[in-house]
Amino acid sequence: MKNIFVLDLNHSHTTLVERLVTAFSQAITDKKWPAETKLPSVRQCAQLYQVSTFTITEAYNRLAAAGLIYAKDRSGYFVAASHSKPIEPLPEPSLVDLPIDDYWLLTNIFDQANKYTHFSCGWLPPDWYPQDEIAKVLRDIAKQDISQSGYGEPYGYLPLRQQLCSHLANYMIHAAPNNILITQGASSALDIISSTLLRPGEAVLVDDPGYCNFLSSLRYKRMKLVGIPWHSNGPDIEQMERLIKQEKPRFYFTNPWLQNPTGASLSLDNAYKVLRLTEKYNIKIIEDNVSGDLMPANSVTLVSMAGLDQVIHIRSFCKTLQPNLRVGYIVANQQLLEKLVHYKMMTSLTSTELSERVILSILRAGHYAKHIEKLGKKLAQAHSITAQLLTSLGWELFARPETGYYVYARPKNRQVDSEKLTELAKNKGIVFAHGRLFSPTHQTNSWIRFNVVYTMLGQHILKQFLSSLNKQGIT
Ligand SMILES: Cc1ncc(COP(=O)(O)O)c(C=O)c1O
Repeated sequence: MKNIFVLDLNHSHTTLVERLVTAFSQAITDKKWPAETKLPSVRQCAQLYQVSTFTITEAYNRLAAAGLIYAKDRSGYFVAASHSKPIEPLPEPSLVDLPIDDYWLLTNIFDQANKYTHFSCGWLPPDWYPQDEIAKVLRDIAKQDISQSGYGEPYGYLPLRQQLCSHLANYMIHAAPNNILITQGASSALDIISSTLLRPGEAVLVDDPGYCNFLSSLRYKRMKLVGIPWHSNGPDIEQMERLIKQEKPRFYFTNPWLQNPTGASLSLDNAYKVLRLTEKYNIKIIEDNVSGDLMPANSVTLVSMAGLDQVIHIRSFCKTLQPNLRVGYIVANQQLLEKLVHYKMMTSLTSTELSERVILSILRAGHYAKHIEKLGKKLAQAHSITAQLLTSLGWELFARPETGYYVYARPKNRQVDSEKLTELAKNKGIVFAHGRLFSPTHQTNSWIRFNVVYTMLGQHILKQFLSSLNKQGIT
């Protein structure tokens, strides 16, 4: 073989295998080693680079897995022909070329998460999640034999569902394991419920403003969205009754606690009115309580007040532990859950037992409550700093939550189209979620959703940007 090069084996922050793979891949894509070139045998190569045969075998396996080389029976490894013409990746669209709309929010926001300064996102900085605890649990789970589980259980891992019953009891929610269906986050819970229960085209009550991705999903399913205006203490009850009489909906999907995007929560008297009204008109409530674990223990919920016959309850660990574990769950009466599990199995079979075991271990170890308490204090500080910052810059807040991820704010004395502000911000590499995204009717307005943690961390950048808008007389 020609062109065997000298490898820098003293490079310390990558493994030997990684360095070999990088150097060999380069030689192949640069065509220093053209298609069908025979590679040295594992033993020869090990001697050449003074490394073990295991290292070379591992490197060859990775190159073969990447399709760069292939093994021919008994004759050794060869450079694969398809790599004589490497495929150029499509150029990535830049933020400035794309409008920040519902589509962008669902398809690009995660890809572009590290490239821009996000002030409105729906996640926490990585070190706000209990990374060490999760790493430890994963190491322990690696020692367990999960091959016996096959696809896992349709309703989700039973020991986790049993543990969740005591977790829910902290919030005065009384459920048995067969009242719980584990899902891939609250997103799939919402999809399972809406796909199972709604008839095409029917009127559905939703929060206005409300959770943008769920509104998109209902639009996709061609539902008629009936937005109930939200105030800082919950829905407008008079409007709600008027719209119920007019539209005759059967379901009300709401995110009543630490609401996305406003951060507001239902007041107790409003919660009571919502329950009375929905009972009167025989409307089932889907209580999306995705951030419920951030509420103080013993906080009431609609389900704790009215029970499982009137309310379907959704929770998730994505806002507190780790979004990419993708564990959420539905709490509902058993009869209904049987329908929901059928849809879950039809569309995705089971959920991921490995993630479910991680959550179980964390709950069992008893550290979750401490993590939540610590997180709650940090969020409270972020809320106070963000509220102070925004009000000092002449913005008004929709509500004054003390925990959760969001505040909703707008310039106080001027009617500004927040979509236009978002466009201006984009040119500075700043990403905002403007109020139109959260409107069931896509109504332009002047609100912006702020993630309090990222606002606190990026306060100097935000202050500079908003002050410059002030000076230009835009806000
Ligand atoms: C109100 C609401 N519901 C559901 C979800 C989806 O959550 P998950 O990450 O658990 O799928 C979110 C995520 O931000 C949300 O804000």
